[in-house]
Amino acid sequence: MGRNHQVYGGGGGTMSRGWSCLFYLLVFLTEILLFGVLILSLVWVYLFKDGFAWRDDIQRQFNLHPVLMITGFIFLMGNAMLVYRLFRCCNKLASKLLHTFLYLLAVPCIVVAMIAVFDNHNLREPPIPNLYSLHSWLGLITMGLFGLQFVVGFFSFWILLCCEQGTSSFRSNMLPIHSTFGIITFMLAIATSLTGYTEKAFFDL
Ligand code: HEM
Repeated sequence: MGRNHQVYGGGGGTMSRGWSCLFYLLVFLTEILLFGVLILSLVWVYLFKDGFAWRDDIQRQFNLHPVLMITGFIFLMGNAMLVYRLFRCCNKLASKLLHTFLYLLAVPCIVVAMIAVFDNHNLREPPIPNLYSLHSWLGLITMGLFGLQFVVGFFSFWILLCCEQGTSSFRSNMLPIHSTFGIITFMLAIATSLTGYTEKAFFDL
């Protein structure tokens, strides 16, 4: 195909204009889904669950759990994964910084979401046990994988840059492992969220 019919694609190489249009259409649809799920979770809490609170009302404090988990694990992580697809033609270091920044932003969301749900169990009269459900164990595995990904990714793709030449083959070998585990963590986060919403609907029946 002629050079003028080729444009930068999400994978960093070139692709035909048709594929490029399809690619950006899919990215656009993905963004609609990512924003959509965040907006819907907020609408659900504000319209049907009386909004948020902290410690003085543990029922409303719980509402922070789903919204912040969706923000951290779905919205921020989903966008962090898309950074390399969207800005592949731009400076690689800038994409890497944005990718790390979005992951870093997810950390306080996850921490506050966990405090909210633990308080909801522990501050009740009488308290209810923690970690008794499939959802909570799936959640622990998801958070464990997220933490591992973060530490290994930070070490491999930032710390090891101090010896760029010597570690380049290690880093390029790590890349497919890091992306595969990233996708697995994201899928697990979706499964955890689905079990969470199902459980919540069941409790509220
Ligand atoms: C990836 C996102 C999520 C993770 C990692 C996660 C993790 C957890 C964990 C570890 C617990 C146990 C807390 C305890 O035992 O005190 C829990 C509880 C709970 N979560 Fe989530 N959660 C996520 C998303 C959601 C969502 C979207 C909902 C929707 C409403 C939800 C609803 C619940 C409910 C109802 C509980 C209390 C009952 C139970 O312990 O199973 N979660 N979550």
